[in-house]
Amino acid sequence: MDLGVFRGFRDQKLSFYKGNFKITGLQYNGALSRQTSDQFRDLGNWIEKLMYETFHNSVLKRKYRGSRLVRVSPDTGGVMAQVMLIFLFSRTENEIPLRMAVNRVLQQRLQMYPGSAHIDLSSSSLSDMKGEMAERIFSDICGLRHNRSSGTSRITGGVSSGEWPWQASLQRNNIHRCGATLISNTWLLSAAHCFREAKNPHKWTVSFGTYLSPPLMIRLVKTIIIHEKYQYRDHEHDIAVLQLTKSVEFTSAIHRVCLPDSNEKIPYNIDAVVTGWGALNNDGETPNVLQEATVKLIDSKVCNRREVYNGAIKPGMLCAGYLEGGIDSCQGDSGGPLTTSDSRKMWYLVGIVSWGDECGKPNKPGVYTRVTYYRDWITKYTGL
Ligand code: ARG
Repeated sequence: MDLGVFRGFRDQKLSFYKGNFKITGLQYNGALSRQTSDQFRDLGNWIEKLMYETFHNSVLKRKYRGSRLVRVSPDTGGVMAQVMLIFLFSRTENEIPLRMAVNRVLQQRLQMYPGSAHIDLSSSSLSDMKGEMAERIFSDICGLRHNRSSGTSRITGGVSSGEWPWQASLQRNNIHRCGATLISNTWLLSAAHCFREAKNPHKWTVSFGTYLSPPLMIRLVKTIIIHEKYQYRDHEHDIAVLQLTKSVEFTSAIHRVCLPDSNEKIPYNIDAVVTGWGALNNDGETPNVLQEATVKLIDSKVCNRREVYNGAIKPGMLCAGYLEGGIDSCQGDSGGPLTTSDSRKMWYLVGIVSWGDECGKPNKPGVYTRVTYYRDWITKYTGL
């Protein structure tokens, strides 16, 4: 689904509708209050697929752009699911008949999907929503990238602002030093080793946006908390949290990533994306535009082989890259995010760029701080 084009195009406009669907045959539980729970994900997948099938087999097929489950609340005999529906209409079309058309399709088609859970249409409703409101709701959900690329003209190969909205640059004297990741309105996660030379928060600034210059937004740092067991030259416990002096109001271009639960099993051999303004090769320059690389998560057993890191990979670490070398993070990417996306395109922070033997060498993949291992430590200091 294309979440991002909130402003629409020349002769077309996006219309947002809020559907409140009563789902019977489903028991509410606390996990459904969290966007990142398995239960929320399952329900989201189910209802978003249902919406897709509904509109793709209807007269609105060409105009339907996507749907998203945004909230679930308890309701008598089931749950109430709040679903955002997105359509691209031409500007000349009239709002009220459109909403009626959407409603008609829902009424006609939704009863055709039997299953254990069921949508009770008599207790469901549909209402219009302003674009700004929709953008606010999406920006509050963790880990969503607002993909602006489709439909809008963009420079070939160019990157538009806000592609990785949780990425931040940690700077001293306006010089990029490390990456960091926004995990709430006020907290960022980074690597402990970034603060080796300067632990004083007043020496640091944080910038957001795809470009280092000009930055989209700058914030000051109030507190830096470094893992108490971190020791310089050791790579273990390479994690720190920082708090901003002033909270960030989330927009489509700046907002938080999702954090995995501590008991989450991170599979290996899956794709992950690392982003940063680090050197383009070993000892290379800092680019102005945020870079991204797709890497594979590597089994720690493999990463601990003699010819790889020979036992140096501790339980709090995670290897990612390619044993054949080539694609890797590098100097200056430290502290930045290694993320994976789930079936609903929500991005989770699984690693923090930490160390490696140079960059991109065969048998020397990047090593990351394993976020699940430090998940409780993060909660302890941030309450998140
Ligand atoms: N320690 C480096 C830094 O401070 C990051 C190194 C990552 N190395 C790698 N091969 N992935 O920026």
